[in-house]
Amino acid sequence: MNPQASALDKFLDQHAFQSEGDILIFRAVPGDYLRRFAGRTVLCRQTYKPDAEALAGLGVEVVTDSDAPAGLCIVFATKHKEETLYHMARAASQLHEGGSLVVTAANDLGASSLEKRCAELLGGVQSFSKHKCRVFWGAKASARLDRALMASWLRGGELQPIPGTDLVSRPGVFSWNRIDPGSRLLAEYLPDDLAGCGADLGAGYGYLSRTLLARSSAVAELHLFEAEHKALEAARLNLAGFASSVRLHFHWHDVTAGLPVERLDFVVMNPPFHAGRDAEPGLGRAFIRAALTSLRPGGCLYFVANRHLPYEETIRGLAGSGKTLAEREGYKVMKVWK
Ligand SMILES: C[S@@+](CC[C@H](N)C(=O)[O-])C[C@H]1O[C@@H](n2cnc3c(N)ncnc32)[C@H](O)[C@@H]1O
Repeated sequence: MNPQASALDKFLDQHAFQSEGDILIFRAVPGDYLRRFAGRTVLCRQTYKPDAEALAGLGVEVVTDSDAPAGLCIVFATKHKEETLYHMARAASQLHEGGSLVVTAANDLGASSLEKRCAELLGGVQSFSKHKCRVFWGAKASARLDRALMASWLRGGELQPIPGTDLVSRPGVFSWNRIDPGSRLLAEYLPDDLAGCGADLGAGYGYLSRTLLARSSAVAELHLFEAEHKALEAARLNLAGFASSVRLHFHWHDVTAGLPVERLDFVVMNPPFHAGRDAEPGLGRAFIRAALTSLRPGGCLYFVANRHLPYEETIRGLAGSGKTLAEREGYKVMKVWK
């Protein structure tokens, strides 16, 4: 089980923690802790599709966002500190007076610093450690709440310009405040004669899609597939300038499950190569499989990957033939024909 979920479960087991009213869980993940809320109204906020689907499979109500008031808010920390602060601020604003905020944070996600920040926000917290995580909690008392801090954390988690670009993104999105160097390298090698109907897998905030649309005017239709809903929202804004000339489709979708489109003329992608904190070549392989399955015969896939990741065998196994276009800065850019 996710260590933050295990630590939360242990905390709930060992503390006679009382709460009333509806429960709102930010970045919820499946775990035994959910059983402790049987009979209560629980709303899970989750914008990452695989986790949202896993929660829905347990019969829990899952939403990508909610302004609903709550008596108990739980925040799962993420690797983006600004996103966790944003969720703590959202929780503090949505809690009833006297309601509780509980945060579960792995030590290597900066639990100790997050605890200090949460104490500043609420005017004090208590803390519990387990499974290399901290669980800290406090009650909302309007008289003690630092509203200036809350307002600045709310702003910090919203959509904002990416420095040096005319794109927007927000914490919680991959490489949210800069262009990823792997994507930048792939963009250098995208041709200017892509045409017809294509897809961008793991499209993020739309950098590759926008680059290819700006370069290839014969693209009539483009499907963006992305598991992180916050990224897709940003991509919609970043591609708005093409909405009248290109048929754009934004899919909140787990690419490892395959694609609901076929006979694509081209696919571009910078696939994820980490599941959590571990390198996971299986993810990239699943992306390559999805791409090659959905291309028409003769269609092309352009992708960038970490240089050391072994994808060539997967490509051959799917009857694709590949060519390395570049190997630089720890990355390789490949073109694959179906
Ligand atoms: C290396 S990033 C590239 C993002 C974007 N193309 C860019 O250039 O900035 C990989 C993207 O895949 C998304 N992703 C991770 N797992 C996914 C999955 N199972 N299905 C779809 N997208 C996924 C991540 O959220 C992330 O946006």
